[in-house]
Amino acid sequence: MAFDADLIKEIKQRADIVDVISFYLPSVQKKGKGYVAVCPFHDDHDPSMQINKEKQTFHCFVCQTGGDVIEFVKEYEKCSFNDAVLKVCDIIGFDDPRLHKQSYQPKVDENLIPVYNCINELQKYYVYALATEEGQVARDYLAKRHLSDAQAKKFGLGYALKDGKMTIEYLKAKGFSLKNIENTGIALAQTSGMCDNNQGRLIFPIKDANGQVCGFSARKIVEDPDAPKYVNSPETVIFTKGNILYNYWQAKQTAKHDGYIYVVEGFMDVFALDSIGITSCVALMSTKLTKQHIELIRRLGVEVRVCLDGDKPGQSAMMKLMSQLDEAHLPYRLVSLPGEIRDPDEILKQDGEETLQKFVNTLVDPFQFALNYYKNTSPLGTIEDKKKVIKHFMPMIASIREKLVRDDYIYKLADATGFSSGAIINYLNDFMSKNRKSEDSLININAEFSGGNDLKSISKDIRRLTLAERTMLDMMFESKEAIAFYETNIKYFTDEVYRLIANFLIEQVKNNGEIDPSQLITEMELSEVKNKEKVISTVSAIASKDSKVKLSKNSLDEISKVINEERTRLYEKKKVNDALEGLTPEERAKIIADYLAKKSSN
Ligand code: UTP
Ligand code: MN
Repeated sequence: MAFDADLIKEIKQRADIVDVISFYLPSVQKKGKGYVAVCPFHDDHDPSMQINKEKQTFHCFVCQTGGDVIEFVKEYEKCSFNDAVLKVCDIIGFDDPRLHKQSYQPKVDENLIPVYNCINELQKYYVYALATEEGQVARDYLAKRHLSDAQAKKFGLGYALKDGKMTIEYLKAKGFSLKNIENTGIALAQTSGMCDNNQGRLIFPIKDANGQVCGFSARKIVEDPDAPKYVNSPETVIFTKGNILYNYWQAKQTAKHDGYIYVVEGFMDVFALDSIGITSCVALMSTKLTKQHIELIRRLGVEVRVCLDGDKPGQSAMMKLMSQLDEAHLPYRLVSLPGEIRDPDEILKQDGEETLQKFVNTLVDPFQFALNYYKNTSPLGTIEDKKKVIKHFMPMIASIREKLVRDDYIYKLADATGFSSGAIINYLNDFMSKNRKSEDSLININAEFSGGNDLKSISKDIRRLTLAERTMLDMMFESKEAIAFYETNIKYFTDEVYRLIANFLIEQVKNNGEIDPSQLITEMELSEVKNKEKVISTVSAIASKDSKVKLSKNSLDEISKVINEERTRLYEKKKVNDALEGLTPEERAKIIADYLAKKSSN
């Protein structure tokens, strides 16, 4: 999938970072030895972005976005790494056969090729059937649901003829084995005669992220209370429902440009949004959001707009989705017009385009949505009801860092429940002190045993260590001696990100004999390194700054001394912390007292 590392190296040698960034940003200008620009990745007014021509890196010291030339294009275009490589080539007018060879040939298991051939043939057959005389019922149905011919074409809609045995015969005549036909998911292979499960229904082909048909959903056309509304392909060798978002393959093209992706329940809702010009829309084909769905959505790097049906099940599904999206740290808002119980398709049909447009643009944040939800579902009559609501929001409010936002939520919560803001703040304080978990266990023990007074000193210790490690790392980017010094005297960094970078750097010098931060960023990008973003941003920050650290034997010794001192101290604290696990308060108090005594005597 990925481009060859040598090819990327060659491209980067040709693509000057100052030229490429200037192509995007008119604000690039020379300043001192380097270049600066107004950063496009945050709301910037001063030129906070530094570009280092010599090192071929950039870094914004306000929002911490940084990297090499490819990273810049990837961030700016919100595209994949491979696409960013191609864009860079476009900009500098570089072409190479290796670029085309790599262009998105999805890897396909050889054994699956006949199944794909078969399902493609079947899809053609369904589309053909829609145009036949018998297909008139299906065409009438589409018209009744206000689906245009253009939409039918765009979404590949079809019709399954009533004679389901003929569908099988058709595929057999095309040379496909019964096993292959079974693998399309439309029928089980039987010697006594197979029959298309979709017969007499409207066909929605389901396509994977590459636009390849992998299954079908078939809607009934005639009213029949005994028949299921949709018949869906079972799981097959090419179809896993939980991996697929309906219309993802088309929506992914526009979402990056639009900056959002709507997530709706059903096919009909995708079509409804499509008809008002919203093409960045996928359907869950139910109300369940899987881990795989989340990863597909994350790849787009855009705001998620959840719009499930306005009925009770739809709204409570939204509540559930919120916690999944919170957990996945995806930015999202929710479509919510209080009191609206219809789905987008029904709104379009009954009230027209404008109303639907207004509906899908009524976006609220998770907090507001949850408040509406509680107000609508339970009238918050009793004190117990109200407490339940407040309890529900505590973790969310407690996690908000900005005071203004937090105050705003408290105010809204007070408004909705009738409790005073003061009462809610008290509740919040109680909640926070009960839940002060060991995010950083080192800070935690200190907070616990000295009422927080020692908190400052410990974070100061950690800061001193981190600072020393950072200075060491800075020096390692300046000279190979510093790298050698690290290997013999320091050996490892406590900070995980610094440690990873140091390892990369050592490896690079060993293999190429030179320090090249820009090349390092490419290697990191192509690797599976943990905290990739943070790691790359740190490297670009080190490489892009103007000033150099001065290097001398003395300064190296001084840093090494600080690092070793602080490491020992941390180690002692960690020992205390481990020792406290599972002890009674009295035992804990004794250990803590010992520790503090020892500390003050040091
Ligand atoms: P809906 O019942 O909301 O269907 O289910 P819809 O898309 O709005 O269709 P219309 O308007 O009634 O014709 C949402 C989605 O859940 C799946 C389908 O993917 C549907 O689009 N579903 C629903 C099934 O798989 N089977 C069913 O029987 C019902
Ligand atoms: Mn519907």
